[in-house]
Amino acid sequence: MEARSREGWGTRLGFILAAVGSAVGLGNMWRFPYITADRGGAAFVLLYIVMVFVVGVPIMLAEFGVGRRARLSPIGALRTVGGPRLAGLGYLYVATGFLILAYYSVIAGWTMRYTLEALLSGFTRSPSEYFEHTATGTGAVLYHIVFMAITISIVVGGVKRGIERASLVLMPVLFLLIIGLAIWAAFLAGSGAGYSFYLRTDPAKLLSPDTLSAAAGQAFFSLSLGMGAMLTYASYLSRDENLPASAATIAVSDFGVAFLAGLVVFPVIFAFGLSQEIGESALGALFISLPRAFIGMGAAGRIVGLVFFAALFVGALTSAISLLEVVTSSLIDNWRLDRGRAALGAGLVIMLIGLPCALNQDILGLFDQIAGEFLLVVGAFALALFVGWRMSDPLGEVRRGFASEGLLRGWLWIVRIVAPIILAVVIYQKGRATWELLRTTLF
Ligand code: PHE
Repeated sequence: MEARSREGWGTRLGFILAAVGSAVGLGNMWRFPYITADRGGAAFVLLYIVMVFVVGVPIMLAEFGVGRRARLSPIGALRTVGGPRLAGLGYLYVATGFLILAYYSVIAGWTMRYTLEALLSGFTRSPSEYFEHTATGTGAVLYHIVFMAITISIVVGGVKRGIERASLVLMPVLFLLIIGLAIWAAFLAGSGAGYSFYLRTDPAKLLSPDTLSAAAGQAFFSLSLGMGAMLTYASYLSRDENLPASAATIAVSDFGVAFLAGLVVFPVIFAFGLSQEIGESALGALFISLPRAFIGMGAAGRIVGLVFFAALFVGALTSAISLLEVVTSSLIDNWRLDRGRAALGAGLVIMLIGLPCALNQDILGLFDQIAGEFLLVVGAFALALFVGWRMSDPLGEVRRGFASEGLLRGWLWIVRIVAPIILAVVIYQKGRATWELLRTTLF
């Protein structure tokens, strides 16, 4: 399979921005602020940072190592590096990609619709009614289809001319938008109350048994780990890329955007006295309470709303690209389809799988729980065990960039012992929650 010439990134920056693009998305701007507020403020942020850097970055490095060693997409890569049985993990990754993109695209469709609404007429209707109207039904189906079409058209363009080019434009735009919003929010009267709510410390909440799994789950989702996205992006890298430095850069950027998003959301919500709404962190909280604040601000609110939802849309798009690329590159490598057909075929199937999510919010929630919460940690757990205990010379693949052999050994022991133990706890917690939701939703 290696014989065919494989596509690759044009520049180092292109790879980094594409990987940051994969990481930064709805998870940062929509999920992170709410989880933090819900789970203990600054204390949770600290726990989250520990999860990102102590478990997330090492797992990312493991994915990078496998992807670059094999220079193939997940199924072929895991088969090459680990033998035929491990190809099963690759299939799990591809299945997870299908499921995540199916519902992710529906939510991304909402962000498109909100962006257009701000642009064309401003938020006028009652936000909760508008959300109900937007989130499910024909409108949701339509925007979901349009969003998938945009994603497909970029992935069809290929690694360098599609994904990299889009990331080089979109990511700087996203950084500017979110930084601009955070600065603007700092000058809102009443922003202080928002900051203190966001960052108040409530260590007691950290003791709750599922907070650890919430932090870990959020870290994996936000860093795009556990389903082969980072593995696939690394398969397009050259041998001399410094993998540890790349992983660290990506994690810092991903955390930075998540943190900034909180610095936007909470001042806005508090400045408009909508804090009581935060408790109900249902799917739609962000899509209801923020527009309410934007309406309260008049013309300025319309502009800010436009910028905010446009940033969400951009983040969602670059993440969706990476999800579709996992599936597409697997079809190219394993079934020898050309890129155009692979991306289009996969995209159409995902579009269909997403339809129930666009028609029913409970089903959307179920997809999120099964794929976004549970399968990702299972995928990361299995990869850690493989790279830690079975892969031949994992250190050789990631050595470049480590200042000392000690750090390198530290990485290996995290992948061998620390990450699997933490992930086992998380799998247990999430497994139970997933089973519960499955039962209550389906029966
Ligand atoms: N990391 C993305 C986000 O935070 C979601 C994602 C998960 C993308 C898994 C790819 C793979 O929105």
